[in-house]
Amino acid sequence: VRIYVPRDAAALALGAERVAKAISEQIAARGLDAKIVRNGSRGMHWLEPLIEVEVAGKRIGYGQIKAKDVASLFDAGLISGGDHARCLGEVEELPFLKRQTRLTFARCGITDPLSLDDYEAHGGLAGLRRAISMLPADIVKQVTDSGLRGRGGAGFPTGIKWKTVLDAPGERKFIVCNADEGDSGTFADRMIMEGDPFVLIEGMAIAGLATGATKGFVYTRSEYPHAIAAMSRAIDIARSAGILGTSVLGSGKAFDMEVRTGAGAYVCGEETALLNSLEGGRGIVRAKPPLPAHKGLFDCPTVINNVISLASVPVIMDKGSAYYRDFGMGRSRGTIPIQIAGNVKHGGLFETAFGISLGALVDDIAGGTASGRPVKAVQVGGPLGAYFPRSLFDTPFDYEAFAAKDGLIGHAGIVVFDDTADMLKQARFAMEFCAVESCGKCTPCRIGSTRGVETADKIARGIEPEKNRVLLADLCNTMKFGSLCALGGFTPYPVMSAMTHFPEDFVPTPLIEA
Ligand code: NAI
Ligand code: SF4
Repeated sequence: VRIYVPRDAAALALGAERVAKAISEQIAARGLDAKIVRNGSRGMHWLEPLIEVEVAGKRIGYGQIKAKDVASLFDAGLISGGDHARCLGEVEELPFLKRQTRLTFARCGITDPLSLDDYEAHGGLAGLRRAISMLPADIVKQVTDSGLRGRGGAGFPTGIKWKTVLDAPGERKFIVCNADEGDSGTFADRMIMEGDPFVLIEGMAIAGLATGATKGFVYTRSEYPHAIAAMSRAIDIARSAGILGTSVLGSGKAFDMEVRTGAGAYVCGEETALLNSLEGGRGIVRAKPPLPAHKGLFDCPTVINNVISLASVPVIMDKGSAYYRDFGMGRSRGTIPIQIAGNVKHGGLFETAFGISLGALVDDIAGGTASGRPVKAVQVGGPLGAYFPRSLFDTPFDYEAFAAKDGLIGHAGIVVFDDTADMLKQARFAMEFCAVESCGKCTPCRIGSTRGVETADKIARGIEPEKNRVLLADLCNTMKFGSLCALGGFTPYPVMSAMTHFPEDFVPTPLIEA
């Protein structure tokens, strides 16, 4: 019997390690024939630690388990899926999971993340094997035809980026995976690295074969120790199994990779600052052009893709571009792993085809607020994303639809706020965040963000509020069009959306301290 206890950071934070230890003690004390598998998370965070037991091919779940519950679980016949107050029944049948379309996260929470056998038994490596039999240009074409766009936030077509690198002259080329997941309320990259690291390795190896790059780096942050450990271990296993190295799966083509850890500056998620950091320099933004695709890491042609973009490639290579692009709407094809966070009943990872409305996500999937109070605003796309009021809840998850409402999908994190949120305070926070995280290279961001904090404070203190509201909007305009990168350029989104949709909050308030 296999008993699954997640090793995902969210489950660990809620005591999964103690639960695993208690289960192991019970197995020993009762002399049972059972094995603990440390899986990734299913992405239903409110149920963590969620343990599962496999009975007759079905996975029976038990939610919110504490170490002190474990003995009673065994008394209730855990290893045969026995009933218990915490029993959730068959996990796949839980509505939150059942309503998803899991392509990129197909294995996450199901397999043992560090078992290659498990990975292959669940469809792993089929995409890489197919890619090996293809010409680089044909791999690139398949990715282009799938409609896959950059899941880091900008939504640039992945196939076109790969073609630029394939066509760029250069003896050395690199694949860099941007795993510097810095957006508030996002955790999809981490979940893949902890729950299915081989899919990222496979995606990067395919990118290498497609573009002629022979070396890859996963750039992640020091705040992700469990992801770093899982990724590093998986790379070692893949290398020993001949998936990485001088001849990828016996193809005669070389590709190897390693994990690099940054110190955790938000701006190092910006691709050119990331390259500087990876080269050992300070995380300062470089002007574009040249694009990294032409002149990236160590001045060589470089593919930089987010974890989710790369992890979506194996299924595209395995099942074909038509299969993938069949999901979605408009120019947003395939699926998107939406990360639901903030004041919600059901937070976690929800992978679905593009097109689901924001309202369906918040009211239905997330079950409304945890506080039980009315939803006031939803910030979509991280700290640089816009706040959406209920009146915009019909907006479908689609790059263009969000842009049309002065917002962005970003890395697809949504953070929900109830009616106690003060939107002036949130706007001030956006400016303060930008001031703290600014790399300092350009004036609108470096100085504008500090002036933004001061201006928000003046509104809060009732100092010429009308004049300062106009000034704040003007400042946002300057930052939006005058900043070198998205940090300064996108900070106006949360500020302006807060001011536009919640003008009643931009008045003197006792909530902001001098
Ligand atoms: P961008 O629009 O400048 O570029 C997008 C990507 O396409 C880049 O990799 C760029 O090098 C590449 N590209 C552009 N033209 C190309 C061409 N002709 N050939 C080949 N490649 C080309 O956007 P940027 O500044 O890279 O990203 C901004 C986005 O980052 C925002 O939309 C925001 O949502 C997101 N973001 C994500 C965060 C996260 O934690 N994942 C944090 C902060 C922002
Ligand atoms: Fe640096 Fe801010 Fe300018 Fe970006 S916008 S280059 S973070 S100063």
